[in-house]
Amino acid sequence: MGMGRFVFVLLVFSCCSSSRFADAYDPMDPNGDITIDWDFQSLDVKAANTYTVMVSIHNRQLYRHIERPGWRLSWSWAGKEVIWDTRGAEATEQGECSRVGGGSRPHCCQKRPVMVDLPPGTPFNQQVANCCRGGVLSSLTQNNLTSTAAFQMVVGEYAAARDGGGKEPEMPWGFDIGVPGYSCSNATKVPPTRSKVDRNRHVQVLLTWRVTCSYSQYREAGVQSCCVSLSTFYSSGIVPCPRCSCGCQGSPTSPQCVSGGEPAPPPPAGGGDDDDEPAAPLVRCSEHMCPIRVHWHVKVNYRRYWRVKVTVSNYNLVRNYSDWNLVLQHPNLRSLTQLFSFNYKPLVEYGTYNDTGMFWGIRYYNEMLLQDGNVQTEMILEKSEGEFTFSGGWAFPRRVYFDGHECVMPPADQYPALPNGAAATRGQSSLAAGACMVLLSFLALV
Ligand SMILES: *[C@@H]1O[C@H](CO)[C@@H](O)[C@H](O)[C@H]1NC(C)=O
Ligand SMILES: *[C@@H]1O[C@H](CO)[C@@H](O)[C@H](O)[C@H]1NC(C)=O
Ligand SMILES: *[C@@H]1O[C@H](CO)[C@@H](O)[C@H](O)[C@H]1NC(C)=O
Ligand SMILES: *[C@@H]1O[C@H](CO)[C@@H](O)[C@H](O)[C@H]1NC(C)=O
Repeated sequence: MGMGRFVFVLLVFSCCSSSRFADAYDPMDPNGDITIDWDFQSLDVKAANTYTVMVSIHNRQLYRHIERPGWRLSWSWAGKEVIWDTRGAEATEQGECSRVGGGSRPHCCQKRPVMVDLPPGTPFNQQVANCCRGGVLSSLTQNNLTSTAAFQMVVGEYAAARDGGGKEPEMPWGFDIGVPGYSCSNATKVPPTRSKVDRNRHVQVLLTWRVTCSYSQYREAGVQSCCVSLSTFYSSGIVPCPRCSCGCQGSPTSPQCVSGGEPAPPPPAGGGDDDDEPAAPLVRCSEHMCPIRVHWHVKVNYRRYWRVKVTVSNYNLVRNYSDWNLVLQHPNLRSLTQLFSFNYKPLVEYGTYNDTGMFWGIRYYNEMLLQDGNVQTEMILEKSEGEFTFSGGWAFPRRVYFDGHECVMPPADQYPALPNGAAATRGQSSLAAGACMVLLSFLALV
């Protein structure tokens, strides 16, 4: 296959295929992953056959975060290891420890332990730095101070790896962080990490193992969780979220719903706030049945600028989204001039290609999207020369993600038409076909 043809296939694939990523590669966050480091602080091969390891989980993703119920890190031991003690996290099961003699009680003897973070407010003597946030990890953009979690373990009864010269423990395998959509590599040995102990001094650990976990929406396949609706100042109707975007009312797979004016029922008994399991979604009944709706309203047309209002509504009656975030793709975002009530950071910036940005709430103001509530922003964009138009759906976002999940968009042929029929004719089909046609004609020239 010639080079030209290969490029052609690639472009057609990336432009015309569904926007779900075929693998873990995310063009909006190409280097985003979660790395897990095992830093060995002591390694006593001869006498006690134990080691002390600090395990840190770093979320290095720009916009994806780990929400409640949080991470649950598991792996399979290579040999007969037991966890004698932990700080900052705990194993969910102690398991069968009778094989360990001497009347001692290890923390966990399972072949495949599952470690969970401790809740906030854990007594100080059971903590380590960066622990105890109930398994929640911020995205790097929103808060790089809470994007790392850590716990410490004392592990005993381990077998030495053959190729480590009898000094290094054999690596565990089969890592899983227990969050849908993520899969993890095996551990590899990397140069030992350095850590700062005070202003002037760094210490080096004895040995570091690293595991990398990456996200793929493909892997998470399943229920949609948000949808997009559209409106403009120049047409009266609202283009709603597509019917059944997240399920159809009454179908067994869709969430329970409560109609219009009815108040939310009280939470079921026993399902308190401290419960680790998130409440099953209970949403306001709607045609789309999504817990989250993002509404894009083209509000005002100025001479050189235009104004958009974006509202994120939470239809879930039993869930508050803390540290929510929104990712929008629109070619005019590079000329974002003013933004109200939200934080903003461009996500994709390759040269002049700057069309995707991340929005999130302002601390102590709207960082929490309350159950049955909404958050909103208005932004003013400078019309980009030769590109700006109200026709062809150009003024609407290309993609929308809420909390890292891609939202269902209305089909392009339903976009609000311009009041002037002539202009609209040009518009309707051009959005859907536009991008592909440009590429195809470009290729025809090559
Ligand atoms: C963390 O975020 C703050 C504020 O956003 C920034 O000033 C700082 O450089 C960031 N630190 C790292 C290590 O990225
Ligand atoms: C990870 O390691 C285990 C045990 O050594 C091995 O069976 C498995 O094939 C490895 N997986 C990958 C993806 O390399
Ligand atoms: C959401 O937050 C509100 C106000 O802080 C609180 O009353 C409500 O109980 C919270 N709901 C859940 C499910 O945590
Ligand atoms: C991308 O757009 C943002 C928002 O308008 C702007 O602050 C930033 O400078 C732009 N970056 C590039 C490389 O054009």
